[in-house]
Amino acid sequence: MKQTRRKFINSSIVITTGVILQSCEGKEITTNKELSKNIPIVVSTWKNEGANNAAWEVLSKNGKSIDAVEAGARIPEGDPADQSVGYGGRPDRDGNVTLDACIMNHLGGCGAVTYLQHIKHPISVARKVMEETPHVMLSGDGALQFALAQGFSKENLLTEASKKEYEEWLVKAEYKPKVNIELHDTIGIIGIDSDGNLSGACTTSGLAYKMAGRIGDSPIIGAGLYVDNEIGAAVATGMGELVMRSVGSFLVVELMRQGMSPFEACKEAVMRIVRKQDITDIQVGYIALDKNGNFGAYSVKPDFVFTVSDQSGIKIHDSESYETK
Ligand code: GLY
Repeated sequence: MKQTRRKFINSSIVITTGVILQSCEGKEITTNKELSKNIPIVVSTWKNEGANNAAWEVLSKNGKSIDAVEAGARIPEGDPADQSVGYGGRPDRDGNVTLDACIMNHLGGCGAVTYLQHIKHPISVARKVMEETPHVMLSGDGALQFALAQGFSKENLLTEASKKEYEEWLVKAEYKPKVNIELHDTIGIIGIDSDGNLSGACTTSGLAYKMAGRIGDSPIIGAGLYVDNEIGAAVATGMGELVMRSVGSFLVVELMRQGMSPFEACKEAVMRIVRKQDITDIQVGYIALDKNGNFGAYSVKPDFVFTVSDQSGIKIHDSESYETK
């Protein structure tokens, strides 16, 4: 008899699942096997306690992963001290703050905005694109008009601190982003809820002093973020051009599908970049989460950290990297 039962023990950490085997006569045989799952869990790029705490607040109350990752991404977006995301983000070389973001749910639904100006929370606009339109991505003025129609407020996102830095940059106007500073750009956040459903969010103001109109990997489904509820999720941070050329987050998830652990998959995706692209003065980092709540990360250069929240608490982890100190 086919049996599938789920038992939540210790606030959903262990799930007992009926495993269905196929006998040689083609009949289904079911065995009960204990699969240890570390859920709920949320993982984000960089040192990101605020984002994780907001996401954990949702997950710890049996909320949905899509609500958790959106709530998490909104924290750095609204924080003027975070100059790589949302309000207070560093501008492009014309002095305009332009934001990219995307979001993906456990059903494969996704929404994205690119080159969005004047809206503090692009991740929430991306979610509206996913839920309220037949499209996946809106860009520029169209994205702004859609956001305003959805009730978002138009604001000046260029803070005095970012304006001052930009004016100092203008003196030489050299485009040499500093690794892990101007390249410390993207907040990616991936999580699993207590129903075992995965979601992800990715938000950025992109590279500081980028060319006007430049879009990075962060709003591109498959590059900056990918979620497959059967397998896992991955998100990227760093120099978007290298991530886009290798369709990085989709690659990480597909490598997990082929049997790699989250760490192995992130490492192989970084090695594809290292083998084929110029990695002088660039950083790229990936974080990944499999369906069972195992996580991993890998980066091109050292000093990439990521933040994990689960039943055991919140912890900042150092990522292993291709280059070492
Ligand atoms: N990873 C963000 C960007 O390249 O814009």
